[in-house]
Amino acid sequence: MAASVVEMSAPRNRGVIRESQGSAASAEIHAEMTGIKRIYPATGGGPGVHALGPVDLKLARGEFYSVVGPSGCGKSTLLDVLAGLSAPTEGHILFEGREVAGKVPPGVGVVFQEDAAFPWLTVEDNIAFGLRRAGTDAAEVERRVAYAIGFMGLKDFRKAYPSQLSGGMRQRVCIARTLVMQPRLILLDEPFGALDAQTRLLMGDELLKLWRETGATVMLITHALDEAAMLSDRIGVMSARPGRLIADIRTDWPRDRDSRIAAEESFGQITSQLWRLLRDESVKAAGMAGAKG
Ligand SMILES: Nc1ncnc2c1ncn2[C@@H]1O[C@H](COP(=O)(O)OP(=O)(O)OP(=O)(O)O)[C@@H](O)[C@H]1O
Ligand SMILES: [Mg+2]
Repeated sequence: MAASVVEMSAPRNRGVIRESQGSAASAEIHAEMTGIKRIYPATGGGPGVHALGPVDLKLARGEFYSVVGPSGCGKSTLLDVLAGLSAPTEGHILFEGREVAGKVPPGVGVVFQEDAAFPWLTVEDNIAFGLRRAGTDAAEVERRVAYAIGFMGLKDFRKAYPSQLSGGMRQRVCIARTLVMQPRLILLDEPFGALDAQTRLLMGDELLKLWRETGATVMLITHALDEAAMLSDRIGVMSARPGRLIADIRTDWPRDRDSRIAAEESFGQITSQLWRLLRDESVKAAGMAGAKG
C-alpha cells in the first residue's frame, strides 16, 4: 500500500510520491464546496479577518476525509461553512445536490470542537434529545440510545449528569448525541481532543466501525497527524490563515482497517509527509522566523 500526495500549489512532479487519480473523480459527489472564502467582518474599525479560502473541496459519498492544519488556520471555519452554520463570503456549497445555506441540512450531523452537553439532562436524555425533538417513536429512541451508550462506553453512566462526568466522557456524550441521528454526512471538529491517547485510539477504531457499518461520509478535523493518517482515506492539509488546501494525501488503506494500520510502513511515510508539509505552515502561523531547514 502506497500513499499518494498531490501538493496543490507546488509543481506536480516535486515532492510527490504518486499523483492522486483526481480526488473523488469517479465516485458520486456527496458534498461540494466551490470558491469558498470566509472573511469575518471588522469589529471596532479594524480590518476584517480573512479566515478561509479560496477553497474547493469535493467529498465522495462514503469517503473518510480528514483535515489537518496549524492552529487558527480556519479549520473550524471550514467545517462551520460546510455545515451551513456560517455563511461564506464567496462561493457556494452543495450537499446531496442541494444548496446549503443558513442551517444544518437534514442528514448532516456536527460534533463541535467545544461541545456542551445539557447540564440538566442525564446522559441518556442528552443522547435522546434530538431524536425526541424529531418525534422519533419511543422504542426506536430507546434502541438507538442503548446502542450509542454501548458504543461510547457510557453504560455505567447512563443516569449520570454531565457535571458527574470527566471532560472526555462529556465529549463522548456529545458525539453520541450526534451519531444517534444517523447522519449521512458527519462533520467532526477535533472530537477526541479531550481524550487520553489510549481512549483516542479506541474511539478511532469505533468511529471506523461506525463509518463502515453506516456508509456515512466523514469529515474529521484533527490536530493529531497520526489520527488523520490512521483513520482517513484522504487527508487535506491546510495552509496558515487564510486557510487553503495545499495538499491532498491519499492513504489507500483498505476499508476494513483499524489502528493496527499504524504498524504499516506507509503509515510512517504518511505521517512524516504530513509533518513536513505542516511544519512550515505552523511556523508561519506562529509568526516565527526560520521556516526553512
Ligand atoms: N466568529 C468569528 N469572528 C471573527 N473572527 C473569527 C471568528 N471565528 C473565527 N475567527 C478567526 O478566524 C480565524 C480562523 O479560526 P478557526 O477557529 O476557523 O481556526 P482553527 O483552524 O479551527 O483553529 P484551532 O486549530 O485553534 O481550532 C482565526 O484567526 C479566528 O480568530
Ligand atoms: Mg478549530
